[in-house]
Amino acid sequence: MLNDWTPDSWRTRVALQQPRYEDPAALARAVAELSALPPLVTTWEVEELRRQLAEAAQGKRFLLQGGDCAESLSECRAEPVTNKLKVLLQMSLVLVHGGQRPVIRVGRFAGQYAKPRSEDTETREGVTLPSYRGDIVNRPAFTAADRRPDPDLLLRGYERAALTLNLIRALSSGGFADLHHPENWDLAFVESSPLAAEYRRIVGSIGESLRFMENVLGVRTGGMEKVDFFSSHEGLHLEYERAQTHLQNGHWYHLATHFPWIGLRTAQLDGAHVEYFRGLRNPIGVKIGASTTAEGLRRLLDLLNPTHLPGRITLIHRFGAGQIAAHLPGLIAAVRDTSHLPLWVCDPMHGNTVTTAAGYKTRRFQAILEELEQAFDLHAQTGGRLGGVHIELTGDDVTECTGGARGLAEVDLKRAYRTEVDPRLNGEQALEMALLIARKMRSLG
Ligand code: PEP
Ligand code: CO
Repeated sequence: MLNDWTPDSWRTRVALQQPRYEDPAALARAVAELSALPPLVTTWEVEELRRQLAEAAQGKRFLLQGGDCAESLSECRAEPVTNKLKVLLQMSLVLVHGGQRPVIRVGRFAGQYAKPRSEDTETREGVTLPSYRGDIVNRPAFTAADRRPDPDLLLRGYERAALTLNLIRALSSGGFADLHHPENWDLAFVESSPLAAEYRRIVGSIGESLRFMENVLGVRTGGMEKVDFFSSHEGLHLEYERAQTHLQNGHWYHLATHFPWIGLRTAQLDGAHVEYFRGLRNPIGVKIGASTTAEGLRRLLDLLNPTHLPGRITLIHRFGAGQIAAHLPGLIAAVRDTSHLPLWVCDPMHGNTVTTAAGYKTRRFQAILEELEQAFDLHAQTGGRLGGVHIELTGDDVTECTGGARGLAEVDLKRAYRTEVDPRLNGEQALEMALLIARKMRSLG
């Protein structure tokens, strides 16, 4: 444990991206109530994830991290949560097949409710209101009442996170996730997809291997009926994060999620977020981008992992397809010169956001794929390995990103554009992306 850190030492630093509550007493009441609620995850699970991430950093596993840009309280329903799980299961199966390595499944779910924004306020037709900062802070509708930060939403978010995790735990430990029955995960609209055949071929070949082991070799493939899912969210709202920080076995753990990450906008070396994360025992993600310097990255690794705890740091890079080649090799070299061994993961979403003439925030499937393919190649060229992908997706049939096998065009976006923040791959686009990533992994061996 660090002797110059407490769960409140971040309060002396500049905390960016925090909401301004009108009634500090109401905030204090909500935070006190939140602090008294039981944790959502256990230290055993957190340690197990860290162990698996350490193996991924050595090339023995691959990380699939995916889910909504921002979860919403109203989407905490059986169907969207189940659909997200289905698509993540399908993708992981395809990635296991392509990479011939176990896949660690981490959802951006069960607590992904706080969003960083580029502006504190938003102005429409002469009216200026606070920006929407995610469902644990305020509401997206453009009225003064909806945009006022409401401390009670911290509790509503925590409760919804618990309900979401409960359903995920039930589904992943019961028959639903059984590898013998991948038909459980079929999404209706993907069945008619141009990609269905390739997916079926992979599922068929995995089924054949299972049957071969069980029937021909007489090996029981026990444990196939359940899978592990871990939760993650951006650790942005520091009051929320702090309220679920627990001292156990001599370490401080954040226990509202397994794997919190520091967003690009709050990764300043002297900022409150880095200070808070510094003292946690959890494995953590750190977003890095075109603004990250080699020296800054080295200092960040020293600060966040002074004891070089294996699996502690996952660097999630997000440059954009046009920028990755200029920035990634220098950062890989900078880390190579240290004795740190972080897990390198590509987020091909956040550097590839564009706005259409009609005003939709979107991402091109092709740009996402290009950044991913370059990431695989750039890591391989330096003798390393890309260890995972971080993707904004949904299992639902939305139209938010263009392209993919069905060639969604800009004019199609209006049909089912539902995200409150960033555009997600729909279930079919996400599965197609996994198939193409698997192809790339096979080609690199
Ligand atoms: C996000 O992951 O939704 C996000 C805001 O990313 P970044 O911090 O990389 O901009
Ligand atoms: Co996002």
